[in-house]
Amino acid sequence: MIIVLLGPPGAGKGTQADQLAARLGIPKIATGDVLRSAVRDGTKRGLEAKAYMDRGDLVPDSVILGILQDVMTSPATAKGAILDGAVRTVPQAEGVGMMLAEIGKKVDRVLLFDVDDDELVKRLSTRTVCDGCQTPYMGREPGSACEKCGGKLVRRKDDEPDAIRNRLEVYRTQTAPVIDWYDDHKMKVLRIDADAPVDVVTGRALEAIGEEGGGK
Ligand code: AP5
Repeated sequence: MIIVLLGPPGAGKGTQADQLAARLGIPKIATGDVLRSAVRDGTKRGLEAKAYMDRGDLVPDSVILGILQDVMTSPATAKGAILDGAVRTVPQAEGVGMMLAEIGKKVDRVLLFDVDDDELVKRLSTRTVCDGCQTPYMGREPGSACEKCGGKLVRRKDDEPDAIRNRLEVYRTQTAPVIDWYDDHKMKVLRIDADAPVDVVTGRALEAIGEEGGGK
């Protein structure tokens, strides 16, 4: 099953992608994580992406479609994948559709996580992440130690106030049209109220995609 997760920054796409991947037994493909890893490794792709990401702008479609071409044709995604934030523009939605058609697959479900702007800003401006294992934390100060690996907690550059504002605007202007694109292409977008505890949101998502064990 191929599931596309849509939603504004901070809506919980990454958090829910981890939960759904564990429940459904298919991998999470998060373009944000792939890009941050490329930045850390100093690769050509990472160097190209860094300035866009720090400002909260989208990385060019060609870079994203290159990443997705690699992962969607890999044996790791043979049984399906959860595409976390991997489709953020109409050309990306078109590109992913064509790429999957070439290998006899299609997008099976599109989930949209809805959270209002005040809650999004609160989540992003109080988030820190481990500079080692990348685990996110809410309300823990930069500089404290990660409970999982002992790494140092840092604030993401794109979680600074100017970048958060820009990311929300970019979502409205460039990503929200993807919702209509899927609707127009007979792919029902399943809307999830994501302003609730993580396990409740996971239950709603599982129920929406028609998996047993959902609820609420
Ligand atoms: P990416 O890392 O994907 O950033 P994003 O979409 O802005 O998403 P976030 O990771 O900030 O939020 P999320 O919705 O995943 O929420 P999370 O679970 O982390 O992308 C970064 C950048 O890479 C982009 O800006 C762009 O430059 C580039 N990029 C990536 N993909 C691209 C593409 N396809 N095209 C072009 N450019 C691309 O949760 C957020 C916080 O809230 C966490 O602290 C979490 O613990 C907390 N939280 C989660 N759920 C709940 C809940 N239910 N209740 C309370 N708190 C919660």
